[in-house]
Amino acid sequence: MHLRLAQTKDYPAIVRLHRATIRNINSADYPEDIINTWAKRSSAKHFQECAHKCKRWVAVENDKVIGFCDHGFDCELWGLYIHKDFIGKGVGSKLLKKAEDSMKKQGCETISLKSTLTAKPFYQKHGYKLIKKDFHQIKDKKMAIAIMSKRTT
Ligand SMILES: CC(C)(COP(=O)(O)OP(=O)(O)OC[C@H]1O[C@@H](n2cnc3c(N)ncnc32)[C@H](O)[C@@H]1OP(=O)(O)O)[C@@H](O)C(=O)NCCC(=O)NCCS
Repeated sequence: MHLRLAQTKDYPAIVRLHRATIRNINSADYPEDIINTWAKRSSAKHFQECAHKCKRWVAVENDKVIGFCDHGFDCELWGLYIHKDFIGKGVGSKLLKKAEDSMKKQGCETISLKSTLTAKPFYQKHGYKLIKKDFHQIKDKKMAIAIMSKRTT
């Protein structure tokens, strides 16, 4: 497995992974109507349109994208999704470290993120503290999330 910056050719695989992880993994923590709206909203166009506003990496094994992670230029981690068949094998931790190192290089003293309920224990394990529980609007649905942060110094 290796990590590299995402390229335009990766977007179809990123979207397939994103949708499948939402449907197979996040579905344990959210009701069906939210899962459907969330998964359907994911698109290669969306990922491509915001590519210049973030740094995004993919984890690749045997030429297959098995995870991705991105962060904005304002010390916020955007997303971290692992392929449903590769959960719990350390890929998420490696991608998170990559993004954290990148944000540290940009001078971030605190990293913030909006975690799904699913990933909250994972981020806690990596030193993130809960700031507050909140809701994220996706179309007409409100999904419960956790706002978290971590000092890098
Ligand atoms: C959360 C996620 C990114 C973690 O990636 P991963 O590759 O599965 O995690 P790792 O294998 O690196 O796990 C590292 C540690 O966190 C723990 N962990 C991971 N996910 C966990 C979870 N949902 N609940 C509790 N512990 C979890 C692992 O047990 C492991 O602990 P250990 O080192 O003591 O064995 C991944 O499970 C995922 O894609 N989840 C669904 C998508 C999602 O909600 N992403 C967050 C968007 S903000």
